[in-house]
Amino acid sequence: MTPVLIDCDPGIDDTLALLYLAALDHLGEIDLCGVTTTAGNTTATQAAGNARWVRDQLRIDAPVLPGQPVPLAVPLVTTPETHGPTGLGYLEVPAAPEDGTWPDLWVEAIEKHEDLHLIVTGPCTNLASFRQSHPEHHARLRNVTVMGGAVGYRGNTTPTAEWNFWVDPHAAADAFGHTPAPVTLCSLEVTEQFLIDPPRLEGLIADLGPAPIAGHLPEILRFYFEFHQAQGEGYQAQIHDLLTCMIALERVGYEHRGVRVDVDTRGERRGTSEETAGTSNTRLVTSADIDGAHAELTRAARALR
Ligand code: RIB
Ligand code: CA
Repeated sequence: MTPVLIDCDPGIDDTLALLYLAALDHLGEIDLCGVTTTAGNTTATQAAGNARWVRDQLRIDAPVLPGQPVPLAVPLVTTPETHGPTGLGYLEVPAAPEDGTWPDLWVEAIEKHEDLHLIVTGPCTNLASFRQSHPEHHARLRNVTVMGGAVGYRGNTTPTAEWNFWVDPHAAADAFGHTPAPVTLCSLEVTEQFLIDPPRLEGLIADLGPAPIAGHLPEILRFYFEFHQAQGEGYQAQIHDLLTCMIALERVGYEHRGVRVDVDTRGERRGTSEETAGTSNTRLVTSADIDGAHAELTRAARALR
């Protein structure tokens, strides 16, 4: 059973990633050790409240704690226009406070599991902060998968930068500048290919059956469909973070190549990820089995019925 820690910013596609991980936890395929949140799609505190709601809807007992409140060196910018006023589209959920501090959760998971898989689907703020506060434990993180960046590909926030890396460019630069082992990077050129549209949402809801969260998905996804349509992407949604989790856990086939990636922090190139010369620090995912990913989501949803 693979131990997993997810650091996310729910956020609508993060929510589907949490749903997927909950299913694998219920199936006994993973041990979801915990959920921490970064500020990006919404504030870290709001994201933690959203993640707690998702956790409770899916009946998993993982701790959920907010991470760093703001990026390392730039003011926080969130994106209510993309994920809704509180990060769950048109849905707003009640706050549910929880005790604990996020670095202690990471330390406990690292000390307990040599093969811990950390999946980061929001800005890299917590990952970079953790290296500064707990360098010895950070050095033991050898299975890290990140959703972010656009390598040799157009951005979705500026012409060259992807949102997660743009929100906290210094953290992204730190995360790739100091990697105990190559980071598996799921960047836009691949994750944009994984789409959910109204017919696939209907299928997901049918697969979930009586699971309580099923009834809430239309209000969550409708906001995301409308955003993508307004961007000219059609009435559908790119579910980057869900594909990232499937790749991190090797539940779908994918191809990758070893490269060195660095992230720019300055001026108009803020958050731009580029392939550079030097020692490889990244397993850059270059393709993924998208049909297989849809089948995997069906498998997971049916496990939550
Ligand atoms: O650029 C895609 C990333 O930013 C995803 O993690 C999604 O949640 C969005 O916020
Ligand atoms: Ca995210």
